[in-house]
Amino acid sequence: MRDRRDGYAGENSCWRGGRASDTLAPMGTVVDLLPSLGLRITAGPTELRGLTDDDLPVLCALAEEGIHPADQMPFYFPWSQAPRGELARNTAQFHWRARATFSPRAWSLHLGVWHEGELVGSQGFDTTNYLVTRTGETGSWLGQRFQGRGIGTVMRQVICAFVFDHLEGVEVTSAAFVDNPASLAVSRKVGYRENGMMRRQRREGELALLQGLVLRPDDLVRCEYPLEVHGLEPFQRSIGLEPR
Ligand SMILES: CC(C)(COP(=O)(O)OP(=O)(O)OC[C@H]1O[C@@H](n2cnc3c(N)ncnc32)[C@H](O)[C@@H]1OP(=O)(O)O)[C@@H](O)C(=O)NCCC(=O)NCCS
Repeated sequence: MRDRRDGYAGENSCWRGGRASDTLAPMGTVVDLLPSLGLRITAGPTELRGLTDDDLPVLCALAEEGIHPADQMPFYFPWSQAPRGELARNTAQFHWRARATFSPRAWSLHLGVWHEGELVGSQGFDTTNYLVTRTGETGSWLGQRFQGRGIGTVMRQVICAFVFDHLEGVEVTSAAFVDNPASLAVSRKVGYRENGMMRRQRREGELALLQGLVLRPDDLVRCEYPLEVHGLEPFQRSIGLEPR
């Protein structure tokens, strides 16, 4: 057994070191360092929560299994067309980058989505200057074998309700290419309104039309389950909100 003064304090813990004669003070866990990792939002059988490093291999394997048919591209940046192996690493790096660059000025919440205890995909919310704008953009994906069962609708309802009810949000935006009927159907069912059409290069040399969407609190169509939120106050503080 190593002495705590060696710097060892068990899994996920770290200790403020210094000279051997210093009094050692606990610094806590990685959740204390990045409270988004400790956020857990549950709605019936669906749970959105911070993705730990142990979750990432499962999520990355799901991405590699397939998110959409090869001839389609639902994402603005075509990250999902990377070759096998690379796609898994890119997916993990995307989540690590979001953690590494998290700040109250610009933050991304990319939560894992569990349905009946199984990791099925990811639900994101990206924003800049949130304390001023009180808006951000949702983005999500599910492993192909979990699509078409209503999970995509519930996870979007959950993140939007969370932003409005617990983060004092006043607006949530989204966008989907016009050839992505599932995403557009989810937005419509959740209450988003159309908000302009944008012309984008999707894959190299390919023009695609992107439908902008906006959701206001009064328009949100909520899911049938109440939200249960754990880890809220530390997360609120981490984005500069004062818990009430
Ligand atoms: C978009 C996505 C998250 C939606 O999740 P999901 O669980 O499949 O969605 P749901 O089952 O909750 O609802 C899908 C809706 O789309 C509708 N839909 C699906 N394909 C459709 C089609 N070809 N034409 C018309 N409607 C369609 C379904 O009928 C359903 O609506 P309904 O419940 O009123 O019948 C998921 O399909 C996905 O991950 N897609 C690939 C990645 C992606 O597109 N991400 C979004 C980028 S903007």
